[in-house]
Amino acid sequence: MINFLFIILLFSFKNSISNEVEPIVIEQNCKSCHGKDYSGNTYIKSIKDLDKETFIKKMEDYKKNNDNSIMSRIVKVLSVNDIKEIAKIIYD
Ligand code: HEC
Repeated sequence: MINFLFIILLFSFKNSISNEVEPIVIEQNCKSCHGKDYSGNTYIKSIKDLDKETFIKKMEDYKKNNDNSIMSRIVKVLSVNDIKEIAKIIYD
């Protein structure tokens, strides 16, 4: 019985980690640094002023960069599709 429960537990855990993170959830994280409306703060300039294409280009550049900057670290785990979905949420 214990073994059986363990297997169920293992499977539900496996499913929960293999699920993709929804872009909307990722986008919520961006707001923690960039501000609720993306207007930034003293240290981070507004990204609301960028147009959608420039945004995507900058995000793709961060993905290519291998430095240890905050944005490269964050963007590295995102797919190009994630970036496009996030762009839609912010700019459309
Ligand atoms: C831990 C804080 C933090 C989080 C979270 C964060 N950013 Fe940033 N972001 C920064 C900082 C700091 C800069 C400016 C420094 C730099 O260019 O590396 C920046 C710069 C940017 C720029 C470039 C702005 C410009 O005009 O050059 C874009 C675009 C951007 N972030 C988008 C995002 C998106 C989209 C997310 C969510 C996936 C996100 N950021 C999450 C801190 C953060």
